[in-house]
Amino acid sequence: MKRKIIILDTTLRDGEQALKYSLTAKKKLKIALSLENMGVDIIEVGFPISSPEDFKSSQIISNNITNSTICSLARCVDNDIEVAAESMLKAKNFRLHIFLATSDIHIKSKLKKRFQEIIDMSVFYVKKAKKYTNDVQFSCEDAGRTNINNLCKIVEKVIEAGANTINIPDTVGFTVPYEFGKIIKYLYNNVPNIDKANISVHCHNDLGMASGNSISAIKEGASQVEGTTNGLGERAGNTALEEIIMAIKLHGNLLNAYTDINIKNIYKNSKLVSKICHVPIPRNKAVIGSNAFSHSSGIHQDGMLKNRNNYEIFNPTIIGFKKTKLNLTSRSGRSAIKQKMLELGYKEKDYDLNKLYNKFINFADKKGKVFDYDLEYLAFKNEKEYKNFFLLKKYSVNYKLRDYTKLKIKLLCGDKIKNIKITTKKNIINVLCKLFSKTTMLKIVLLNYESFTTEKIENLSIRVNISVKYKNRTFYGTGISKNYLESYILSLIDVLNNIWNLNDIYMNLKKNIF
Ligand code: KIV
Ligand code: ZN
Repeated sequence: MKRKIIILDTTLRDGEQALKYSLTAKKKLKIALSLENMGVDIIEVGFPISSPEDFKSSQIISNNITNSTICSLARCVDNDIEVAAESMLKAKNFRLHIFLATSDIHIKSKLKKRFQEIIDMSVFYVKKAKKYTNDVQFSCEDAGRTNINNLCKIVEKVIEAGANTINIPDTVGFTVPYEFGKIIKYLYNNVPNIDKANISVHCHNDLGMASGNSISAIKEGASQVEGTTNGLGERAGNTALEEIIMAIKLHGNLLNAYTDINIKNIYKNSKLVSKICHVPIPRNKAVIGSNAFSHSSGIHQDGMLKNRNNYEIFNPTIIGFKKTKLNLTSRSGRSAIKQKMLELGYKEKDYDLNKLYNKFINFADKKGKVFDYDLEYLAFKNEKEYKNFFLLKKYSVNYKLRDYTKLKIKLLCGDKIKNIKITTKKNIINVLCKLFSKTTMLKIVLLNYESFTTEKIENLSIRVNISVKYKNRTFYGTGISKNYLESYILSLIDVLNNIWNLNDIYMNLKKNIF
């Protein structure tokens, strides 16, 4: 029978430690509710002694979560344990998590103690924690670098003292999977009372091995994995739980394991954590990165269209991720183009695939990424015919009026000049988008914008990328200049030109798909 792997999410404790600004209790509660919804078994909510807000978070989350066990961290210090326990008193189920370093380097240079003192303290504080709850977890900090016989000794003693979960952290992310798995196996073979406790692992990602180490530990018998959403955490981060959950899902037979996680919520939870913590998900992040299910090369795209299993290990929709994307780049082949055109409503007889492919390759080489509307344009017109119907003639801005921004823009629309004047206190980005929409009568809604600066200080320029919705389709625009506001205005104009040109094609085709 497969073993259940207990998932402990420490985004709100170890993950939060690494953020630039700590999270308020309200924000922590939002994340905790999302983790509960996803079916996380144990939510480590914080280190209550560290600040009044952390204490409050632990209290509020304890009052509001019913399905997951709440866990708070404490050092082997009387007050830490008392405060942590007090913060969770209202929880339906709570766990006290206490820790002490066990490696020679930490014991000698950080704690300035002898190993026997470490054992005595650990036993004493496990017994103290047991007075508040039966559910006590003990962590051997820096276990990955702890002498293996010392590790066996302390694990045996804390189990004897009543700890029901023993956590083996690779605190500094030093080990590699083969070695870390061996540590777990050694514990199972050499600690006489090991069957009285769950063995947990908690890996850091300093060598990029956190997930590999955790999986190797599961193979050797570990029954709890700790980690964070999106791999947030100290330095290079903690084990990314979405990776572990999906690895167990895909390799349950090999690992003889399963989890109770509702995988449909994985992506939603990742997005929420990213937004609340202001840490973007890297585009190539395993499982949840925006590029994790995008295919660019012609060979891959062709293979995908024949059978998605050729290049995808699971269907992204099972984790709530959007559908697979075939990127149109100069590496794309005819089959991806044909498929994109079909999605846009064109059969092969409507256009010349070979001609379109040749035009597309030239265009993609110059532009990099090609959007679906570019492809439509190329199918029915030449790149040279592309018009910049809208053009920025002049603009001036005045920020001097207290909180107000005063803007004057001269916009060339075909052969007419339109004057846009505005004095506003509101967010100029949204105001400008609405104004351009009204002036050009192209009803756009701003979806997203981002800005980048070029590296060279002496020749600094700012690039703004925006995306807008226009009649249910997404259009993109880019603006580059030395000034942020001008870059934004240029990106709006770029997007409007893209829409205008496509409208032009549609009029010729007497088509009205928008
Ligand atoms: O990395 C670590 O050792 C920890 C412990 C407190 C479990 O975060
Ligand atoms: Zn840690």
